Amino acid sequence: MKAAVYHRTGDPSVLEVVDRPVPEPGPGEVLVRVAVSGVNPTDWKARQGDGSGAPPRQGWQIPNQDGAGIVETVGTGVDAKLVGERVWIWEAAWQRQWGTAAEYTVVPARQVVRLGAASFDLGASLGIPFLTAHRCLTVGETMPDRLDVGALTGRTVLVQGGAGAVGNAAIQLARWADATVITTVSSAEKAQLAVAAGASYVINYRDEDVVAEIRKIVPDGVDAIVEVAAARNAEIDCQVIGANGAVAVYADDGGAQLTLPVRPLMVPNVRWQFVLVYTLPPVAKAHAVTDVAAGAAAGVLRVGIDAGLPLHHYPLAEAADAHAAVQNSAVGKVLVVTSEQ
Ligand SMILES: NC(=O)c1ccc[n+]([C@@H]2O[C@H](COP(=O)([O-])OP(=O)(O)OC[C@H]3O[C@@H](n4cnc5c(N)ncnc54)[C@H](OP(=O)(O)O)[C@@H]3O)[C@@H](O)[C@H]2O)c1
Repeated sequence: MKAAVYHRTGDPSVLEVVDRPVPEPGPGEVLVRVAVSGVNPTDWKARQGDGSGAPPRQGWQIPNQDGAGIVETVGTGVDAKLVGERVWIWEAAWQRQWGTAAEYTVVPARQVVRLGAASFDLGASLGIPFLTAHRCLTVGETMPDRLDVGALTGRTVLVQGGAGAVGNAAIQLARWADATVITTVSSAEKAQLAVAAGASYVINYRDEDVVAEIRKIVPDGVDAIVEVAAARNAEIDCQVIGANGAVAVYADDGGAQLTLPVRPLMVPNVRWQFVLVYTLPPVAKAHAVTDVAAGAAAGVLRVGIDAGLPLHHYPLAEAADAHAAVQNSAVGKVLVVTSEQ
C-alpha cells in the first residue's frame, strides 16, 4: 500500500509517501481501506514535535487521527459483519503508529463507527472536531450529558471562532440540539461561513464590542462558552458567562497563560473546564461518539461550503502539502484522498 510516513519530527517535508506492506489486524482490531483522511492541527503538531528533529515515539509514524473508508477484514474477537461496512474512524494515530494517511489502517474495533449513507468526506471530518465540540457543549454543570434534538432548548451558547473546524462543529451540534448560538469571527467571509453553519448571531470581534453585543442578546449571560483562545478572550468570557455557566477551553491559540479574577467568578459559581479530546472520561467519549454518529446518520451534520466548512482535497502523494495547509490556518477542512472507493 501507499502510506505517508515520517521517521523524524519536523516541518511538512519530513512526510514522504512510500510503499509498505498492508498491516494485519490484531485481536480486537479492524483493517480499513481508507478513502479519505482528515487533517487537524493536532496532526501537524504531532508531526512537528518539539523542533529537535527527534524520531516519533515509536520510530516511525503514519499521521492523521481522522478518516473514513470500508472495513476490509477484522481480527479475532471482532464481529465479521463489520466487513464491507462504510465507517468513520476516530483517533487512529493516538498512541499508535497507524494513522489514516495511507491506503489502509488498522484500528481497535471500537474506533470505527458505521457511517450509513453519509459521505466519506463527512466521515473523515467528524472525529477530532465533533467529539471535541460535543464535550465542550456537555461538560457544564447545567448542560445535558447528551446532544439530540431539543437537548439545548432554552440554552444560549457562545462559540468563539465560529469559522474554525471545532467552532463549526460546535455550531452545528448546538443548533441541532436547538440552542441559540452566538459566535465570533474575524472577517465578513468568516461571518458568512458561521451563518451557513447555523449560527443565530455572528459578531466580528475585530470591529464590534463583543461584550456589549452579547449582553444585548442575552442580558444574563450565556450558559456555555466553547473557547479556542482562552487567554486572549478571558476578559470577554468573564463578562458574558452566566450564572453556573461553563467555559470549555479546548485550545490556547493566541496565548498560553490564562489569568482569571477569582472573586467575580466565585459569585456566579462559574467554572473553567479544560478539554483534551484524547483523554476524555470514557463515558463522555462514548456519549460523544454515539451522538455524533446519530447526527451524521440523520443528515444534520454536514461539511462543505454550504455548511460553513469549505473542503480542500489533496491526493495522498501531496500529504505534506495538506499538512502545510492546516499549519498555515486553511479555512475549512483539509482532506487527503487516500484511495478510490
Ligand atoms: N483540546 C482538544 O482536544 C482539541 C481538539 C481539537 C482542536 N484543538 C486545538 O484547537 C485549535 C483550533 O482547532 P481547529 O481545527 O478548529 O482549527 P481552525 O480550523 O484553524 O480554527 C481555529 C479558529 O480559531 C479562530 N480564532 C483564533 N483566535 C481567536 C480569537 N481570539 N477569538 C475568536 N476566534 C479565534 C480562528 O479564526 P480567526 O483567527 O480569523 O479569528 C479560526 O477560525 C487548535 O489549536 C487545535 O490544536 C484542541
